[in-house]
Amino acid sequence: MRLGVIGTGHVGLVTCVCFSSFGHDVVGTDSDVEKIRGLAQGRPPFFEPGLEEMLATELASGRLSFSAEPADAIREAEAVFVCVGTPARSSGEASLAATEHAARQFARYAPPHSVFVEKSTVPAGSALRIRRTIVRERPDLEGELEIASNPEFLREGNAISDSLHPDRILVGAEAAWVFDLMRRVYKPLLDKGHRLIETDLISAELAKHMCNTYLALRVSLLNAFAEISERAGGDIAAVTEVMGSDPRIGPHFLRPGIGYGGSCFPKDLRAFDRLAKSLGYDFPILQEIARLNDEAAASAVRKVKDAVWNLEGKRIALLGLAFKPDTDDTRFSPALEVARRLVAEGADVVAYDPRATLDGAGDAPPMKRVSSVYEALQGSSCAVICTEWDEFRNLDLDRVKLAMAEPLIVDGRNVLEPSEMRAAGFVYYPTGRPPVLG
Ligand code: UDX
Repeated sequence: MRLGVIGTGHVGLVTCVCFSSFGHDVVGTDSDVEKIRGLAQGRPPFFEPGLEEMLATELASGRLSFSAEPADAIREAEAVFVCVGTPARSSGEASLAATEHAARQFARYAPPHSVFVEKSTVPAGSALRIRRTIVRERPDLEGELEIASNPEFLREGNAISDSLHPDRILVGAEAAWVFDLMRRVYKPLLDKGHRLIETDLISAELAKHMCNTYLALRVSLLNAFAEISERAGGDIAAVTEVMGSDPRIGPHFLRPGIGYGGSCFPKDLRAFDRLAKSLGYDFPILQEIARLNDEAAASAVRKVKDAVWNLEGKRIALLGLAFKPDTDDTRFSPALEVARRLVAEGADVVAYDPRATLDGAGDAPPMKRVSSVYEALQGSSCAVICTEWDEFRNLDLDRVKLAMAEPLIVDGRNVLEPSEMRAAGFVYYPTGRPPVLG
């Protein structure tokens, strides 16, 4: 099949290489000409495990190409997957300007009997607006150009694996031929037994927002449980083992920490809140999820203050900037929120992350970045672990102790073992677990 992909960010680029690996001919396009140039030469603009290798293989196969001209991606395609950004506006509402632009381009160049596929996360009802836009542009092709909603559930850091081994493929559409076409797109995965769920357009759009809202709720609830455990003197690790053994709850996504971040949860939660409001439904729990998320970062900083006392002029090592491990993404990273709060208290923050870039992260707080974990720890009064990189699990504790001004660690991701910290002579504050006070 010939497929087009508009937008080569995290979702779009992974979609390009995976579809090409299925044997389809894929043309990816993006408004960022520099990005397209780099991609054509095999350079992904961000880090994702396995992506660079797969990009090289698929470019070499001749099936995958990139063009700055949207017409090249649309003109001969049976389906065009739209993976453009839908960032939050100041009101929290998702900005659909890029989606509308893609709809107009699609209408302009699409051949009859082709499908505009929403992959970006958009509020319920967007497909109907897209359809109206396309029909207005091309009344001559009414009924020939269709819409599908095919939300992406991939996680950064696991994006390739999630795309090649999805726990579900979701397709929302109206016409039977569109479902048939989407089944042909995903045939290699369906042949391996992966499940494709067919729904109407609005339910598909809702499902994506509702999944992310539910997951964000789970993280915030766990962070609140961790706080209660700490205050009551319990151990959240024991509690989550019990909770996770209940099949109705399940063991995944029960890790407490300094909060969620990334390009999806914060933005989608706000957009879903706006959608609920626009439907006249009062849904205060959505704001509460976000408040608890801020509170998780604040809790880590409170521990630093408790342990260090005054932070003015103290050097604090921040270990991890990415919103999660195995990505360089710092968008809405709670690590930056922790840094911001430490800087506001007068601390000198020295940050280390093996991968993170501050691209797209907005205003980062003033902090020094260093290129090794021991350099960050050198002379520091306290270290705060903000991202669960494997590198932090395997620290040489004797070397850490020697480097630090005080052997004091606040573990915002429960990366280290309390018993080992006690044996090594550290004061150690995990999250939701009893502290090791030396
Ligand atoms: C998420 C959804 O999982 C994915 O389906 C959707 O398509 C995009 O948004 P992603 O943001 O890449 O994916 O990462 P995810 O692994 O879901 O983690 C989100 C945030 O929650 C991270 O900041 C992570 O550190 C945090 N988290 C996750 C926790 O704090 N505890 C957990 O138990 C799980």
